[in-house]
Amino acid sequence: MKKTTLTALCCLLLLLATRAQQTIPAYLDDALPLEQRVEDALARLTIDEKVAMVHAQSKFSAPGVPRLGIPELWMSDGPHGVRAEIAWNSWAQAGWTNDSCTAFPALTCLAATFNPSLALEYGDALGQEARYRRKDVILGPGLNIYRVPLNGRNFEYMGEDPHLASVMVVPYVQGVQRNGVAACLKHFALNNQETRRSDIDVQADDRALREIYLPAFHAGVREGGAWAVMGSYNKFRGQHCTHHHLLVNDILKGEWGFDGILVSDWGSTHDTRQAALDGLDVEMGTSAPYADYHLARPYLQMLLDGQLPVTSLDDKVRRILRLHLRTTMNRNRPWGALATAEHADVARRVAEQGIVLLKNDGILPLAPGIKIAVIGENATRSLTTGGGSSELKVKRETSPLEALRALYGPANVTHSAGYASGRPAYERENPSPLPADSLRAAAVALARDADAVLFFGGLNKNHRQDSEGADRLSYNLPFGQDTLIAALLAANRRTVIIIVSGNAVAMPWLPRARGVIQSWYLGSEAGGAIAGVISGNVNPSGKLPFSIPARLEDNGAISFGAESYPGRDGRQQYLEGILVGYRWHDTRGIPALFPFGHGLSYTTFRYGKATTDKREYACGDTIRLSLPLANTGRVAGAETVQVYVSQRAPSLPRPVKELKGFCKITLLPGERSTATIAIPVNSLAFFDDRSSAWLVEPDDFTLHCASSSTDVRGSVTIRVR
Ligand code: BGC
Repeated sequence: MKKTTLTALCCLLLLLATRAQQTIPAYLDDALPLEQRVEDALARLTIDEKVAMVHAQSKFSAPGVPRLGIPELWMSDGPHGVRAEIAWNSWAQAGWTNDSCTAFPALTCLAATFNPSLALEYGDALGQEARYRRKDVILGPGLNIYRVPLNGRNFEYMGEDPHLASVMVVPYVQGVQRNGVAACLKHFALNNQETRRSDIDVQADDRALREIYLPAFHAGVREGGAWAVMGSYNKFRGQHCTHHHLLVNDILKGEWGFDGILVSDWGSTHDTRQAALDGLDVEMGTSAPYADYHLARPYLQMLLDGQLPVTSLDDKVRRILRLHLRTTMNRNRPWGALATAEHADVARRVAEQGIVLLKNDGILPLAPGIKIAVIGENATRSLTTGGGSSELKVKRETSPLEALRALYGPANVTHSAGYASGRPAYERENPSPLPADSLRAAAVALARDADAVLFFGGLNKNHRQDSEGADRLSYNLPFGQDTLIAALLAANRRTVIIIVSGNAVAMPWLPRARGVIQSWYLGSEAGGAIAGVISGNVNPSGKLPFSIPARLEDNGAISFGAESYPGRDGRQQYLEGILVGYRWHDTRGIPALFPFGHGLSYTTFRYGKATTDKREYACGDTIRLSLPLANTGRVAGAETVQVYVSQRAPSLPRPVKELKGFCKITLLPGERSTATIAIPVNSLAFFDDRSSAWLVEPDDFTLHCASSSTDVRGSVTIRVR
C-alpha cells in the first residue's frame, strides 16, 4: 500500500473513532423514540438525583440534573395569562420589569363563546407567552364543574356542563402544547368549592363522578393529550386527591393511560407513603425548607430503608423525563412571543364573543350622540389583578369607561362610582366602608340627567368576591349594589345593568331593568369589547355556560342544605348526584331565572326543520344532524345551535336532556346556512353503576335543537339498535 493511501486510511479511522466518541447519548438524540430516550436518561441517574426531581426547589420550579444537561422545570400560573415572576422563596412578585403579559378573558368567558376555534387561538397565544417567559408548564386550564354559584373559583373554570367543558378544553391544551409548553389540567378532582378546600371530604356517587366531574379531564388527557395534571386540595371518599388510589392510579393513569406528570397543588401533599404509591409525581408547596417535603428527605430515607420500592420513584422520574423531552429538551419548540398585537386581538375576540346579552327590551345598542351616565366601580377598576393565583400583571388593560368615552365622546360620558368596595381590603367582606348614601345620591343625580345609564357592578376578585381561598357569603350583590340599582332604575328607566363576575348573582331588580348584560373578567381588552357590544359595533353572541337560578336555594346542591354544601364537620355529600345545573332545573321543574345556553343577539334567527342522515344507528356510528338556519334580522350575527338529547325509557334515571353537540354559525342579514352537528352514538351513554361501565341502551333518543337549554326550536327522534 502506498504511503499516502495508508495515511488517508489512518486519518479516516481516527476521524471515525473521534466521531464514535462524540456520539451523543441516546437521551439527547431526538431521532430516537421517546421511550428509549427516557430509559437511557433514567439509567444514568443516581437515587439522590431522582429524589431531587420529584419535589420543588423554589415556589415554582423543580431541579433538573445539571450533570447531564437536564434543565430545571419552571411552572407558572395560569390559566388566563402568564403570572408575574414570583420570588424564589415567597409569594411576593420578584419585581421584574419584563414580565407584563396579555390578560386573556377568564375561562368562564371562553366557555361562553361556545367557539372551540377561539379556544385553540387562546391556548396558542398563552403558550407563546409562557414560552417567551421560559415557562415549561402553564398551570391551567381549570376544569372543575360549576356546582354552586358561591364557589370562589368558578371564574377560572368552564361552566356547569361536562360536554361544553370537554369540547373547549381540547383545543386549549393543543394550542398551549404546540409551543413545547405543557398544559396542566387542574384541579383533579371534585374541587368544587373553596370552603375548607384543603380538607373537605367529598362523597359523590360513581355516576356523578363519571358523568359530570371527570369528562372534561378525560377529554383534556385523551383528546387534548395534556402532559400534566394537578391534584386538588380536597379529599374524595376519605383520601386526599393529590395522592389518590382510585382517581390517580386507577382512573387517570390506569384507565386513561395518562403518561404525563401529576403535580400536587401547592401544599396539597399530606403523606409520604401515599405520595409515593398513589400517583403523585412532583410535590410543590407553599413554604421552605423543600428538603423536608414528603417527597424529599423522608421519601429518600424510606427508599433507602426498603420501606418503599424504588420502582415507585422510577415511575415518577420516567414521567418527569418524558415531560422534559417534550418541553425543556425539545429542540424544535418555537421561541414564543409576549404581549403582541396578535395576542391582544385574540383576547379581544374572545371577550367580544363571550359577553352574554341576558335581557334587552330594545334599549340596546345605544345610539351615538347621546348623554350616558356610567355608574359603578367596575367601570374603572382593574379586574386583571386579584382572584388569587390567576392574578396577572398586564402590559395593558382598557376600562369600560375609557372605551365608552372614546366611542361616544368624552363630553357625553360622565361617571360616578355609586358604591365602593373599599379596595384592596382582603379582609373586608360585604359592607362598604365608605358613605353609601352620599355615593348613591351622587350617582342617582347623574343618572337622572342622562339619556341612558350604564351600571357596571358585580363582583371584583377581592376576598369572597370571586377569589381563591374562600367562597362568597351571599348570592346577592355586595356593597349595597342592589339598593343602588333599584334607585338608579327609579331615577331613569333607560338603565342597563352590566354584571361583571364569574358567577351567577341574584337579580331582584330584574323586572324593572330594560337591559342586562352578563360580562366577565374580560382581560386586557375588556373596555373595547364591552363598549363594542353596548354600541352595536359588536353583535353579542355569548351563551351562558351556567344557569342563573332565581333564588340560591333553587340550585340543586344548595337545596339539600349544609350536608350537601358547604358540608358538615368537614364532610359533604353531593346529594344532587348527576343533576347539576340545568340538569337539575329541567328535571325537577324548577325554572332558572336565565337558563344555561341562553344569550340574545341584536338580530333574529329562524331555525328550520332538523333532519338526521339516518333513522337508526348502531353503537360506534355517528349521527349527522342538519339544521337549516337563517338570519332574519337586519345585522350580521352569530348563533350557537345547541343539541340536547333525551332518552325515551332509560333503565336508570337520567336528566330530562343533556347537551351533546353545538355549533356556532355567523350569518349576514338574510343569509341562510345549514348547521351540521356530528354526535357519536357512544356519547349517548350513561355510566351504569350496576356494572361500572358506560352503557348505550337500545332505545329511542330525541335530539332537541335549541337556542338555550329551555328554548327548544325543533326535535328529531332516532333509534339506537
Ligand atoms: C392554586 C393553584 C395554583 C397554585 C400555584 C394554588 O393555591 O390552587 O391553582 O396553580 O396555587 O399558584
